[in-house]
Amino acid sequence: MSTVLEQIEQQIAKLSSKAVKKNTGNIRTVADGVAKIDGLSDVMYNEMVQFPGGAIGIALNLEEDEVGCVILGDVSQLKEGDEVTTTGRLLSVPVGKALLGRTVDALGQPVDGKGPIDSKETYPVEKIAPGIIVRKSVSQPLFTGIMAIDSMIPIGRGQRELIIGDRGTGKTTITIDTIINQAKINKVGLASGDKNFRPVYSIYVAIGQKNSNVVRTISALEAAGALEFTVIVAAPAGDNPANQYLAPYSGAAIGEWFMENGMDALIVYDDLSKHAVAYRQISLILKRPSGREAYPGDVFYLHSRLLERAARLDGKGSLTALPIIETLAGDVSAYIPTNVISITDGQIFLETDLFNQGIRPAVSVGLSVSRVGSAAQIKATKQVGGKLKGELAQFRELAAFAQFGSDLDAKTKAQLDRGSRIVELFKQPAFAPLPIELQVAVLFAMQKGFFDPIDIKKIANASASLKNFFTTRKDPLLAEVRTKAALDKDLEAKLLAACEEWKSSYSA
Ligand SMILES: Nc1ncnc2c1ncn2[C@@H]1O[C@H](COP(=O)(O)OP(=O)(O)OP(=O)(O)O)[C@@H](O)[C@H]1O
Ligand SMILES: [Mg+2]
Repeated sequence: MSTVLEQIEQQIAKLSSKAVKKNTGNIRTVADGVAKIDGLSDVMYNEMVQFPGGAIGIALNLEEDEVGCVILGDVSQLKEGDEVTTTGRLLSVPVGKALLGRTVDALGQPVDGKGPIDSKETYPVEKIAPGIIVRKSVSQPLFTGIMAIDSMIPIGRGQRELIIGDRGTGKTTITIDTIINQAKINKVGLASGDKNFRPVYSIYVAIGQKNSNVVRTISALEAAGALEFTVIVAAPAGDNPANQYLAPYSGAAIGEWFMENGMDALIVYDDLSKHAVAYRQISLILKRPSGREAYPGDVFYLHSRLLERAARLDGKGSLTALPIIETLAGDVSAYIPTNVISITDGQIFLETDLFNQGIRPAVSVGLSVSRVGSAAQIKATKQVGGKLKGELAQFRELAAFAQFGSDLDAKTKAQLDRGSRIVELFKQPAFAPLPIELQVAVLFAMQKGFFDPIDIKKIANASASLKNFFTTRKDPLLAEVRTKAALDKDLEAKLLAACEEWKSSYSA
């Protein structure tokens, strides 16, 4: 009896119960780019997990008995029971100047057929936004090249300015113009040899857009010679929702590299309405409870943690964000628009009515605002355009009123006259940003009444003639306006003389 006991004891002693850290699991279900995984332990929120066949997932839902992942890459090969392993790494993308001129997907991999990208560093896709202490207030301008915006709704480096409007109102065009303008300024600045010149690099993130639109954007940038300063992150409509969800964060990481390394960058998110829809799709499959307009409860956090990453950092660089939101029938009070309006430092509202009347860019003066940008506006623009916003807003009101009566007093008539001339001056074709010094010259001529005697129908023609006169004949004067950035007595006299000279040569 005792030997049997001894034998059992010996057997038990031999048994070792070593705990094994288990970091593999199995797919329980997979559908629509989302997998639920059994048995994954120790997985972090937002950690990359490896699927068979090279596909990568991000752990988004950590629950007691399963992990919900979105899958990036090809999901067609995955099936129930496949093994999944954790990687211990948070998702990151390649960053650096090697990405300039390239088009990449949401994972930072090239999709433009121009070969591999030689980047040495990677940045995590999700990062905690800079805190309060390291931030610096916005004080350097970021010129869009669009006269109506630079003079009335100025944007500064590090600012977040929302572009909002219905379908087809010119939202994308405004951002492309801005990117093209940065490239133009970069070329002039870098050629000047000025050591204090700070170029602006651009990142354009296309989310849920038609491929044809993305191609159109890329060719517009290329035609304008702006591609060499731009990174395109594309997650088009055909891409799965996981990639569309991820793309803006990847773009932000690429932008942060410039900011952290003392450079200035501009990022465009085109658009966050489609981003919210992609997130809603993922969340519904993950069976998260849906809230207002069927969006999950954390959709505000989705956009705030993205837009808070745009900043101007003390002693480093800046990241300026231009998110785009599409409204339905001009309704800015819907869920996603109000969210993003409250997260940004102002909005440029584009109106369908104005667009259809041929007033393009269709910027609504009354509803557009820039809360921090005027600190960054150059003095010269303030001097020639300081009153424009008020005048235009008043004009719109008067114009609506004047439709009803024909008896207008002289003062009202003069205001209407002036207002309609400003409207004409602010019309600007797509992809033709104007240098700030030329904007100052045009607005100066306006302020001094040089357009007053000209027939309203011929204002566009006259303003084109004036710009042409200044660029071809008064280049040194323009350069002086650019470098001084403020109008003193001497400069004003020179501008006045130049305008007189133009006037005598111009025949309508
Ligand atoms: N300033 C402008 N002058 C003339 N045409 C313009 C101007 N801005 C935009 N357009 C034209 O209007 C059309 C719509 O512009 P765009 O694609 O920028 O609008 P969107 O609001 O981004 O549209 P979507 O909602 O489809 O994304 C384009 O054909 C564009 O060329
Ligand atoms: Mg668009």
